[in-house]
Amino acid sequence: MTQHSSAPQADGAVGPRVRAARPDAAPSARSGASGWWRDAVIYQVYPRSFADGDGDGMGDLPGVRQRLPHLAALGVDAVWLSPFYASPQADAGYDVADYRAIDPMFGTLHDADALIRDAHALGLRVIIDIVPNHSSDRHEWFTRALAGDPAARERYHFRAGRGERGELPPNDWESVFGGPAWSRVPDEPGLWYLHLFAPEQPDFDWEHPAVRDEFRSVLRFWLDLGVDGFRVDVAHGLVKAAGLPDMGSGEQLRLLGTAELPFFDQDGVHEIYRSWRQVLDEYPGERIGVAEAWAPSAERTALYVRADELHQAFNFHYLGTDWDAPALREVIDASLTSLGAVGAPATWVLSNHDVVRHRTRLGGGAPRARAASLLMLALPGSAYVYQGEELGLPEVTELPDEARQDPSFFRDNGQDGLRDGCRVPLPWAEERTADGGTSFGFGGGSSWLPQPPEWGALSVAAQTGDPDSTLELYRTALRLRRERPELGDGEPLEWLTAPEGVLAFRRGAFVCAANTGPEPAALDFRTGALLLASGPLPAAESGRTVLPGDTTAWWAER
Ligand code: GLC
Repeated sequence: MTQHSSAPQADGAVGPRVRAARPDAAPSARSGASGWWRDAVIYQVYPRSFADGDGDGMGDLPGVRQRLPHLAALGVDAVWLSPFYASPQADAGYDVADYRAIDPMFGTLHDADALIRDAHALGLRVIIDIVPNHSSDRHEWFTRALAGDPAARERYHFRAGRGERGELPPNDWESVFGGPAWSRVPDEPGLWYLHLFAPEQPDFDWEHPAVRDEFRSVLRFWLDLGVDGFRVDVAHGLVKAAGLPDMGSGEQLRLLGTAELPFFDQDGVHEIYRSWRQVLDEYPGERIGVAEAWAPSAERTALYVRADELHQAFNFHYLGTDWDAPALREVIDASLTSLGAVGAPATWVLSNHDVVRHRTRLGGGAPRARAASLLMLALPGSAYVYQGEELGLPEVTELPDEARQDPSFFRDNGQDGLRDGCRVPLPWAEERTADGGTSFGFGGGSSWLPQPPEWGALSVAAQTGDPDSTLELYRTALRLRRERPELGDGEPLEWLTAPEGVLAFRRGAFVCAANTGPEPAALDFRTGALLLASGPLPAAESGRTVLPGDTTAWWAER
């Protein structure tokens, strides 16, 4: 594998060369390499469902590569790819058997290299997922451990069971996917191993130096290939409380992300990210780390993004907030305050591959989803867009059970078990394929999860050029974000006094208002010239702007 083209330039920067390749990149203070991530819009690609290059019904890296121009035209800054590593796919690739290999179902290392090169040529940075909390049960270390190799066993959590003959799990922890977090070792009565997720995902023991060394080496492998950063899966899970103490509560799943737990958000994780930051900083062009950290509060989340740790953390508190003005204001303030205290940019997210799509989750259909998106994109910091939200895709709630693949669906009492409904392959074309398949331009005849018949009308082709479409709304919003210096990491947010149910703020000359209520609201403040609205705005009444329910609009004073 040759050194990637984003390797050190003479001036040690990736950005300026990359940005120069973007025909539509507006020159601004933010367009250099420095701090590019502080206001980046990062688009999540879920490789199995984005685009299928070889027609087998499953998305792959050549498919992503062919469709990169869509992302460049959308106007995002970076792409985050969910895992594409060699994996038995017990959890859609979040069970990694080889951290340095691409699963044949997604392509080859050559395809990954070509994808990174093409993305950079289009001005897009590439962030990849890394899964350090657990491996696959087919990872070489774990197969050696199961075979009895004591050195390999030390890299995972093997423990004797409780009860007279070790017939009970070593402690009372529950798997996030439901059921006990322990499974028995076949043929060794009384011996168990820990898996916070599926049994096919054994947790590493991060106290072991070999685990720490291995992951720093894996980071370097991909950094050498040219990736611009990592999304760190289950970043909060790596370190467990000493002695693996019982929780003493049967309500663990409900407590995830809201309470202190002996297996999540332990202080010891931060030392790991400090050592990862040193690796990232060895490379030019500001390579970043993004924490998937479900911590109990905004303050605890902010600890992951202190100056010598990772760069960003997902804002799940924002994602989990209803479409309700006071609640949104509270979470926005808490996020800005806690992240500001450590000098990190806020991030905002509404959808990802683990949650019900926001068009469905927020309960107000397309108008509310569009309003929520426009609000998110006006907030200070960086934003994450999940593939298909730019098309206004709803959650697919009617999947037949036999099509489902999410392990949480199959484990009793697991999380909602609905994750397949946001993973249905994207529609690119209006028509079904000639062979009667259902792919709407996704690729093969039948996609791995069936697409609803009405998705042709939501396809990229159907929406392109239609000024009222959600796709064009996103394109315009992202263009304005690049053009207007107040947006992104620009001016601070100042709240404006607004009618009940309306959230309104100013950022320098830029004004945003979101009406979360059902009724139109007349605004008391000067809005300026309209830049963009998520839905139709009526004529002003007595000089006052009227904002309909479930609508967000952007204005500028000059
Ligand atoms: C993260 C991923 C999720 C996966 C889990 C276990 O939460 O986003 O999809 O199932 O980690 O790796």
